[in-house]
Amino acid sequence: MYQNICYFALMCAIIEYMEQKTSHYSIKYPVTFVIFGITGDLARKKLLPSLWDLYHRGNIVKEYFSVIGFSRSSYTNEQFREYVRKILLQRDPSLDEAEVKNFSECFLYEAGDFLEKSFYENIKLCIRQRDTFFKTCATKIAYLAVAPEYYEKIFENIHSSGLLITCANEVSGLGRILVEKPFGKDVETARELDKKLGSLFKEEQIFRIDHYLAKETIQNILNFRFANHIFEPLWNKNHIESIEIRLAENFGVDGRGAFYDGVGALRDVGQNHILQMLATTIMQSPLEFSAEGIRTKRLEALDSFESVCAEKKTKECKQCIRAQYEGYREEEGVTKDSKTETYFKIYVKSSLSQWEGVSFLLESGKAMEKTETFIRVHFKQASFALLCPLQSSHGCANTLTFHIKPEEGISILFWAKKPGFSRDLDPHNLHFQYKEGMETHCIPDAYEYVLFEAIRGDQTLFPGTEEIRAQWEVIAPLLKHWEKEPLSTYKKGSNEIIE
Ligand code: BG6
Repeated sequence: MYQNICYFALMCAIIEYMEQKTSHYSIKYPVTFVIFGITGDLARKKLLPSLWDLYHRGNIVKEYFSVIGFSRSSYTNEQFREYVRKILLQRDPSLDEAEVKNFSECFLYEAGDFLEKSFYENIKLCIRQRDTFFKTCATKIAYLAVAPEYYEKIFENIHSSGLLITCANEVSGLGRILVEKPFGKDVETARELDKKLGSLFKEEQIFRIDHYLAKETIQNILNFRFANHIFEPLWNKNHIESIEIRLAENFGVDGRGAFYDGVGALRDVGQNHILQMLATTIMQSPLEFSAEGIRTKRLEALDSFESVCAEKKTKECKQCIRAQYEGYREEEGVTKDSKTETYFKIYVKSSLSQWEGVSFLLESGKAMEKTETFIRVHFKQASFALLCPLQSSHGCANTLTFHIKPEEGISILFWAKKPGFSRDLDPHNLHFQYKEGMETHCIPDAYEYVLFEAIRGDQTLFPGTEEIRAQWEVIAPLLKHWEKEPLSTYKKGSNEIIE
């Protein structure tokens, strides 16, 4: 009897687990991805592992999912599936080979030139084959994991070949197009690119990727702020002194010298990831938690930013820095007299009345001492100074930090009485880490969110066209100002600016 009860309880637990694993967030309509540049770096490091993780977790299933890889290298379907298996098993040799094989069978391959329209006809045939297999018309998603110079031509070819045209039924909806950053090089090129995209596709089909918006901690900022009443009432200029965002990496350009040299740190991560992190941190509550509601408020924040680094007289402006690490010019693909910055520190202000006078420090660098990415909110010093003498350097100020790297989490610095007979105060930390109490694979990678939300057609995590425009407008005056400014240097692996 007891055994039967245990068995029943175990079965219930397993069924519940399987349901959670496969049904709750499982896509139950056919989807076909066409990934341009499937043999490139991004696909190898991020897209294939993320698709695998979605598959392994049951969010996408073989009956409803396929990928057509498109690149220049020549592979047969079978050779390409072998390539996919190799990448996944190299990343994690403990994977179940049979499951990996099943997954690899979702892949087809087309070799060709992105610029040549005739190859798009072959892809279309492949898509039809998949529709026949699914016995219905799948949702089509094109992912551009290629160098930006190909974008325009690929947009045109996708459009003129009708690659994303899908059956007009409710499930498959409109075909979608996913575009990686960099989105343009400045206000004008971004506007041109968007004009082109907008003339060929509808805005609801276009998913511009900023993978930082998809990071678990960044997504959580809004939940954290608006679900915990102890913070939101303090979230303004009356209680917050400044906000600091730092994205530091302890490695250099990592083989991407040729790309990076024409871009620099400000365009690479400042114009997009860091501004989006700041916008998410200070934006007002959306009227509703929908893509439109959130994107509208994010845009309002982005539109309110202005860099203070070009205003020479301000105290903050004097602290703005643009620097390059020693040895950068010897990196492969980098020009010998390069003036590209690999580090920047800038200040931004917001014209929103609730943030008047609050300073936002944004900083990022390659080849720094350590890898760390965080958003730190510095609260004002305690106004009741009896316990916390004004002469103390900290003034009992609290900080709240959203940690993104190396580990995702949140911490709060607070002050408490030192044990014993004195009234002195000590700083302490309340710390939450996602990985504690959770298996790491339970936290989806940002690219899993990017792929999954694109399948679901939810644009919340993707910046709209106006957001991209606003982002470029924040940094445009700075880029111009920097043309005449000297470039400092710093030692590789250090945070110390030399000159
Ligand atoms: C990319 C930049 O967008 O973001 C890279 O091009 C940078 O230079 C990367 O290293 C950082 O992303 P993550 O997710 O590794 O912190």
